[in-house]
Amino acid sequence: MATSLDDLHLRLQLVPLDALQALSVSAGDLDEQSTLTAPVPVAITPPHIVVTSCSPNTSGGVTAGDVGIRLAAEQRIDLPRRLRRADATGRVGEIVEVELEDDTTETLLTLGVGDDAPADARKAGAALARRIKNAEIVLCDVTASMSHASLRAFCEGLLLASYQFSLKSKQEERKPTVVQLAVAGLASSQKVLDQAIATAQAVAFARDLANRPSNDKSPQWLAEQASGIAKPSGLRVRVLDESALERGGFGGLLAVGGGSTNPPRLIVTEYRGEPTAPRVVLVGKGITFDSGGLSLKPSDGMPLMKTDMSGAAAVLAVMSSLRSAGVKANVVGLLACAENMPSGSAYRPGDVVRHFGGRTSEVLNTDAEGRMVLADAIAYANARLRPDVIVDVATLTGAATMGLSRQYGALFTADDGLAKRLEVAGQESNDQVWRLPLAPEYRASLDSPIADIAHVSRGHVGAGAITAALFLKEFAGSRRWAHLDIAGPGRADKAHDELSRGATGFGVRLLLRWLQSSPDLW
Ligand code: BES
Ligand code: MN
Ligand code: ZN
Repeated sequence: MATSLDDLHLRLQLVPLDALQALSVSAGDLDEQSTLTAPVPVAITPPHIVVTSCSPNTSGGVTAGDVGIRLAAEQRIDLPRRLRRADATGRVGEIVEVELEDDTTETLLTLGVGDDAPADARKAGAALARRIKNAEIVLCDVTASMSHASLRAFCEGLLLASYQFSLKSKQEERKPTVVQLAVAGLASSQKVLDQAIATAQAVAFARDLANRPSNDKSPQWLAEQASGIAKPSGLRVRVLDESALERGGFGGLLAVGGGSTNPPRLIVTEYRGEPTAPRVVLVGKGITFDSGGLSLKPSDGMPLMKTDMSGAAAVLAVMSSLRSAGVKANVVGLLACAENMPSGSAYRPGDVVRHFGGRTSEVLNTDAEGRMVLADAIAYANARLRPDVIVDVATLTGAATMGLSRQYGALFTADDGLAKRLEVAGQESNDQVWRLPLAPEYRASLDSPIADIAHVSRGHVGAGAITAALFLKEFAGSRRWAHLDIAGPGRADKAHDELSRGATGFGVRLLLRWLQSSPDLW
């Protein structure tokens, strides 16, 4: 079974800082212990793992947090000496285990948290998540002195790094891990924790959708997922099936989906914010499998193409948490879904496709299918939805990965203000993007002798991420529009920091952060 965050095995709870003053983890003190959990009655037994902060001090050594110092004193342990012997540096994410007396069941860990910067806190949270995987109860004092921004990042790091996706027939037996975080102001911190949980849940939802193998997901399946979350998320969902797509003239979706026995869908999800707030349309590339079509991909990278609907997954995940995030904008999420397969009914190189609204494009390579389906959806948004801003998200080009590799998405927009806001949202949320130019110099490479536009460049122009963006731009009219090419950061080959191996849910945090910022920032 897929692991979504609901059964993530990690529960975060806040405990008041004062309760730590009463902390004693020596055996026989259980009554006193229960004060620790007063606001959230869970642990009656002492915490099995105690996590205390560790930071470099001015004299070249490290200083441990209060709880660590007290626990060490109880155990008559010379903590500074132990840390020196372990060569502890206090660098971010460093974890040192301090051995306690034989008769204790506790483990004392020190965790390097760096300065009170959210980026450090996120890394530290992720490192801790990996270390406490099989623990039952963890008490952590490193959050006690954190700013709200760092607390949120720390919790997101913890939650996101404990995500796992597995379809093994024998699931690992894992008891839930309860992590108690000491904080100064319980009520205000709870709001911060709730935000972190909502964000991590949305990211996990996107990862679940994208990690699911393609024998198990089709455009119709995605439509069912969208319909399934409509009610609990406060969305209106409409699905255009193949006959509706035909009636509407969505030639790009029909062309790409034509080779597959799983027909294409345009999924329209709608969130109503405040009536006078701006209207935003999010568009996601939802290729449930990209074989390349008749321009077949080599087999090496093909298994990864089950994640070629990561853009649509990100959009749906964002849509699912707009209400709980209190977003004021009115947002429509369009998921442009098709399966790109070779067959007797597949679209061909040389075909000319008529997109929604009538514009024609000449197909040169059926593996450039993403832009074909996005063109329909963007044209639809422009003509029918009166958006103030359109943002599309797509695993669009290998070229974006060549340029920026796996840690940055490529951002394209002609609007400097929008670029800045998306960049900042990316930095704050750690879905980082880097802006590339919509270079007008390269537009001529998309000229077609027989259609309005060729869908890829003729000849060896290079700049494949840019020319793809230039193609999409034609369909956005004069709307404010941004394009995020997430082919690089959409997947992680191995776990690092808050990312688990597989689909990363890239874009969810960025878009949520952006939409949560005040209306004049959209
Ligand atoms: N889905 C791929 C892009 C991709 C590649 C995503 C690697 C993730 C990892 C896209 O549909 C594609 O095949 N793009 C082609 C375009 C080319 C044919 C102009 C590419 O980038 O090679
Ligand atoms: Mn492709
Ligand atoms: Zn693709």
